[in-house]
Amino acid sequence: MKTILAIETSCDETAISCISGEGERVVVHKEFVRSQVEIHAAFGGVVPDVAAREHVALLMAMLRDVAEDTSLPHWDALAVTAGPGLAPALRVGVAAAKGFAEARNLPIVPVCHLEGHIYASWLQEGGETPSFPALALIVSGGHTEIILMRGHGDFVRIGETVDDAAGESYDKVATMLGLGYPGGPKIDALARVGNPQAYAFPRPMEKSGDAMMSFSGIKTSVLYTLREITDAGNMNDAVVADIAASFQEAVVDILVKKMRKALRDYRPSSVILAGGVAANSELRQRMRKMSEEEGCAFFMPTLRYAMDNATMIAIAGYFRLLSGGARDPGLVAVNPQQDIV
Ligand code: KG4
Ligand code: ZN
Repeated sequence: MKTILAIETSCDETAISCISGEGERVVVHKEFVRSQVEIHAAFGGVVPDVAAREHVALLMAMLRDVAEDTSLPHWDALAVTAGPGLAPALRVGVAAAKGFAEARNLPIVPVCHLEGHIYASWLQEGGETPSFPALALIVSGGHTEIILMRGHGDFVRIGETVDDAAGESYDKVATMLGLGYPGGPKIDALARVGNPQAYAFPRPMEKSGDAMMSFSGIKTSVLYTLREITDAGNMNDAVVADIAASFQEAVVDILVKKMRKALRDYRPSSVILAGGVAANSELRQRMRKMSEEEGCAFFMPTLRYAMDNATMIAIAGYFRLLSGGARDPGLVAVNPQQDIV
């Protein structure tokens, strides 16, 4: 059994988690996540320096709590998100991890945030875990990627967005609709009462024949549609809900179509939905249905583990540790671009 303490500060959630792993099974002993979303909402998005300042205050209190908790097992390593993310925010977590690890003589495992999102699916209620090869769709605020996972720590990127990330397009369209930040959950909720067929937004790169994706054209099309409706004086709450539903339909359509094609090309034994947009109700439902139709086992995190958290970083760190991914504490650096492939 290995026990890991993990720190996540890549964006606007400050989080720590303590887990133990044995083989494929992991158990969570203690976890904290504090969202700074209310602070950043006033700015219409995450301000990196403000996020870093908040991480300092929140993280120190969390670390003090776990350090004083005598019920926790002895730690074998400390995992920390090294990237991708906001550099000032990442730096707080990495600096804290180095100090903590140095003082306790623990090895550090630098973890890619995206790899963490994938490993959030290792925490299923029934204890079942994805089998390999697995095909993962990562949809977060900064990334949209299709990853072939051939084993632990063995990732190949087979497709990605050529422009905006899916989550970014949700946030931008939400701003256009006057819904505020973060937009994903707000569009998700509004889409339930709107008509997804009301507006025919484009499906860019739908027929590109590969796993590459594009979302910025949908956003632009929403902008033009909004202008026309506003200029004609026809804007009202029902129209906003219809636009939200039609926009979501276009994004989910692309993601599901691209994954269906990738599944047919790569024939994985499981499908993993990962990242903040994996909290989207429509995407969760459509991806599950599509995976079942294609005969693949489907895995997605529960809602709390879909959003940024440190437990997913701890699990990724645990599997990295097993395959020799630990480093001397002095070697860890912040890498805002760090990626798994
Ligand atoms: O993974 P995450 O928490 O942070 C990053 O690593 O980027 O993802 C945040 C993104 C935001 O763009 C947010 O709007 C989106 O996930 N999101 C959603 C939903 N919940 C969060 N997008 C669509 N529907 C949701 N329910
Ligand atoms: Zn994330």
